[in-house]
Order: sequence, then C-alpha cells, then structure tokens
Amino acid sequence: PIEVELAQSGMTLTVPSDKSILEVLTEAGVEVDASCEEGTCGTCEVMVLEGTPEHHDVVLTESERESGECMMICVSRAKSKFLKLDL
Ligand code: FES
Repeated sequence: PIEVELAQSGMTLTVPSDKSILEVLTEAGVEVDASCEEGTCGTCEVMVLEGTPEHHDVVLTESERESGECMMICVSRAKSKFLKLDL
C-alpha cells in the first residue's frame, strides 16, 4: 500500500495494491480531472511534492520521469511508501 497525502486539503489516504491512486481519491470525494484512465491522455497529471513516483504512463518524457516532479495518478504508483501530492 501507498500512503498519499494531499498537500492542499491535508487529507491522507491509503492506496491498496489493487486500486489506483485516482480510484482511491475519487472514492474519497476528491475531485480530480481524468479521462482515459489508462495512462495515455495526460489529463490526470499531478505535481509530486514528496516521495518517488513509479511511472506506468506513456505520456511523460524520459526527463520528466526522472525528475519525479509529476505523475499520472490513474496508472502510476510509488517506489516510496509515501507520496505527497499537490492536490
Ligand atoms: Fe489519462 Fe490519467 S486519465 S493519463
């Protein structure tokens, strides 16, 4: 599981391995823009403030991936146990 903290609302959520970050946020009533939900459109891009994302999308460039500053929350997860997102 990944612990996700939302910097703007102060909310902390647990994302189990069988759910996406997007699914957990949506279930918690957090409004997030999303479209394809398969990592191809770029709509759900979120800035990462802490932690290391594990990218599973096909949108980001190699350098964006390495910077770890943003991620697609519909498919991407985390290498760290904790992520702080700009939401
Ligand atoms: Fe399309 Fe996440 S909703 S990349």
